[in-house]
Amino acid sequence: MSTILVIGASGTVGSELSSLLTQAGHTVRKATSRTPTAPDQVHLNLLTGEGRDAAFAGVDQAFFLAPPGHTRQDLLLNPLVDAARAEGVQKVVLMSAMGANADEAAPLRLAERHLEASGLAFNVIRPNWFMQNFNTFWLHGILNQGQILLPTGEAKGSFIDARDIAAVAAELLVSDRFNGQDFDLTGPEALDHHQVAALLTQASGKRIGYTDISPEAMREGLLGAGLPADYADFMLVILGYFKAGYSERTTDAVHTITGHAPRSVAQYARDYKTAWA
Ligand SMILES: NC(=O)c1ccc[n+]([C@@H]2O[C@H](COP(=O)([O-])OP(=O)(O)OC[C@H]3O[C@@H](n4cnc5c(N)ncnc54)[C@H](OP(=O)(O)O)[C@@H]3O)[C@@H](O)[C@H]2O)c1
Repeated sequence: MSTILVIGASGTVGSELSSLLTQAGHTVRKATSRTPTAPDQVHLNLLTGEGRDAAFAGVDQAFFLAPPGHTRQDLLLNPLVDAARAEGVQKVVLMSAMGANADEAAPLRLAERHLEASGLAFNVIRPNWFMQNFNTFWLHGILNQGQILLPTGEAKGSFIDARDIAAVAAELLVSDRFNGQDFDLTGPEALDHHQVAALLTQASGKRIGYTDISPEAMREGLLGAGLPADYADFMLVILGYFKAGYSERTTDAVHTITGHAPRSVAQYARDYKTAWA
């Protein structure tokens, strides 16, 4: 059994991942930028580097992500890679995002490349848009206006359930089968936001639609929610990629790595229906 450091352990993917690893008998060290309140937590602030070296002591494998809200993900992630190498960590799994490798100079891609060049055993996983955005980031519009409000036109996305991302990461962390490989992770099918809205309606009993809003209205909403302006602009760029059709592709990576098919949006909607009711 391993000792595994999980960055973002309280978040959407990290909390599921921590549960899966604990259930499998591993010791999970949960990183938090806050003051730890439980014995399995460790303080590590990616913005300042505080707690970094102590967090890695005795760690066998580590899961990395960059918290949302920061556009220079390489500045947050590269020091983690260096610390992992210095501490003799056996393997790192880095979660970036589908499309991150479209531009070799993009910050997330720079972080991927730093890991690839580190000499560490690694995997890079690049998930598509999370289904869980509909019960977190996009929830406000759904609850207040009964609408998914996004500037994505009629384009489709092969949304992925964060629970499947966590299952992939849990497998890759403790297996050497796929070392050195990168994977685009998607759900089983591509749906547009009208279709997603219909599935949320069916599961929750609440009437939910989709409105294709302007990028300007989206930007206003993101700034109103407290996002920094540069991150709001980054979000608009990647939502533009969605609208252009770059999020439609499906892959079989979840099945290849975990042995089970990825969850559908219909399944996700049934499991999270109380979020919209
Ligand atoms: N949402 C999507 O559709 C999507 C799609 C593809 C890729 N992604 C990628 O997914 C990542 C986000 O994953 P997620 O949604 O699972 O995360 P999340 O739910 O937003 O949680 C963020 C985590 O980061 C931690 N954190 C925040 N600030 C920190 C700091 N300064 N130092 C250390 N930890 C800090 C938080 O823990 P504490 O508060 O305890 O510190 C929290 O656990 C991003 O890199 C994003 O690019 C998202």
